This record gives sequence, C-alpha cells and structure tokens, in this order.
Amino acid sequence: MASGPGSAPGRACPVEYRYGARALRRAPDLEVDALWVAGGLYGNPFALQALVERHAAERGATALVFNGDFHWFDIEEGDFLRIEQGVGQYASTRGNVETELASPSEGAGCGCGYPEWVDEGTVERSNHILARLRETAARFPDVLVRLRALPMHLVARVGSERVAIVHGDADSLAGWAFSQEALALPGGLAAAERAFDEADVRVVASSHTCLPVAQGFPDGRVLANNGAAGMPNFHGERFGVATRIAVSPSGDALYSLRAGALHVEAIAVNYDERAWRAKFLEQWPAGSDAHRSYFERIANGPRYSRAQARREAVSLAA
Ligand SMILES: [Fe+2]
Repeated sequence: MASGPGSAPGRACPVEYRYGARALRRAPDLEVDALWVAGGLYGNPFALQALVERHAAERGATALVFNGDFHWFDIEEGDFLRIEQGVGQYASTRGNVETELASPSEGAGCGCGYPEWVDEGTVERSNHILARLRETAARFPDVLVRLRALPMHLVARVGSERVAIVHGDADSLAGWAFSQEALALPGGLAAAERAFDEADVRVVASSHTCLPVAQGFPDGRVLANNGAAGMPNFHGERFGVATRIAVSPSGDALYSLRAGALHVEAIAVNYDERAWRAKFLEQWPAGSDAHRSYFERIANGPRYSRAQARREAVSLAA
C-alpha cells in the first residue's frame, strides 16, 4: 500500500488534533466535589438515560462531562437528535467522531488515529461508519455548529486537586498514549508521568481507546480511562463504564484507586441492554460495518477483565 500506518484514513492523527500537555496547565473550567466523566457513549440512548439518572443521585457540587465520541452508531435521525439534546444539557468535549462530523480533516477518515495493533478491516469499517453518520449529521447544520464549537479538553478542580479531561491523551485528541496497551509498557508509563508533570494535574480522565484502565503512579497520581460508557467493557458483562472522581467514595464502584485526597472510581452504566441490542440491530443489521466490528462486543463484552483494568502504581526506578 502506498500509505502505511500513520498517514492513511483512520490511522492519521490530523495536526488540528494536537494541543500538547502544557495546554492543560491552566485555570480550571469547573469546580466541583464530584466529577463524572463519560467518554464513548457511541450513540447509545439507553446508556445516556442510565448515566443521567445515576448522576442525578449525586449530592453536592457535581458535574457530568461527556468527553467525546457521544455519537457513533446513531445514524437514525431521531436517535442522533436524542443523543445531541441529552448530551447538550451537560458539559462536553468533542471526540474525533464529533470533530470529523463538524470539521472534517482531509484524509483523516474517522479520525481515530488507530495504532498498528488495530487491524486494517477495523480501520476501514470505522471510516465507513463515520461516512454514514456524516450523512445523518449533515441534515442538522445547527448541530454541526454546536459540535464545532466544543473544546478539545477541560480542566476541573475537584476538591483541592486539579483534574484534566481529555478525549485521547494529553497531547492529542486521538492519541493512544493512555490506552491499556501503551500503559502496559514501562516507556508508556514514563511518558504518562511526564504528561502529568507538564499538565500539573493529579488525575487525567480520558477515553477513546475503547478499553478501560485505571493506572496509579508512585506519587499518588491516577490516569482514568473509562473505556466506553455505551458498550460493554469486560468479558461476559454487559454495561458501560464511567469515571467518577470525587472527594468521597460512591460506595458502588467496580474498582477504584486513591489519588491524594480523591477517590477515582469506575462506575457501571447499567443500561437496558436488550433494548440497546435491538436499537443497534435496527440501524446496523448483520453484515453491516458496525455489526461486523462491534456486535460481538455488544453481545458478550471484549476479552478483557476488571482485574486487567485496575493497575496499582509500580516504581520504574527500582
Ligand atoms: Fe475516539
């Protein structure tokens, strides 16, 4: 092939996506005692409903932030608008999906920035899904204006600690540095620590890379990637995951880590999974691009476990 990984549609990371970790070293955009971050809703209206209801039970100063890719499977107009109107009630950042709907980059495809370990078929199908979703989104110019204006990242103060909210990683909207795969390598952990230093934050909340990971660091910092709020994240378990970062624990975390005075928790998004499966199949029947890429995960979860997601700090200096 003429263009290898790094430049082909779906592999490329457009220059407009880059901001650099130092952009996160700024005054907070919001100040709360409990921050919920939900990336990867992927057009699941039942997960949206479950999240909103669960967040509404939170007491005190709180915020729910959708950190990108809230659209994806919602090619039916009514669903697209339902997601848009629901998410629009809360703070949000744009992911690569919303960015490629509102401000397409030349040759970016889905804007996923897929690394080499993601196979070519998956990349091509994601480009097709984005192209189909773009047809729906194009019917709503006002929505595109709203999506275009969303920030790529937010900074929060939770209690007395600084928290960065990104879609990909600390450098780029579609970066994979905070994927469970990258964080499994010593070089990936060291790079993440440098990003925390540059951003001057206690916690980073990310998404984008599809699988959740909560990674502790020796100095009490935590990277929390929620995986997907709108799809299963663990083998045999059919719920989404959101990240809760707060001064006190929720009492029903799937797993958690401490980050200084904060509790960083993975919370189950218990949506109506039968209804979601039916809704997905209406839009993406057997043989369609999204069915081939995602239905097995929607039905049975990925080959990944909670034990793999929760990672205590390891000392790289030892
Ligand atoms: Fe993404």
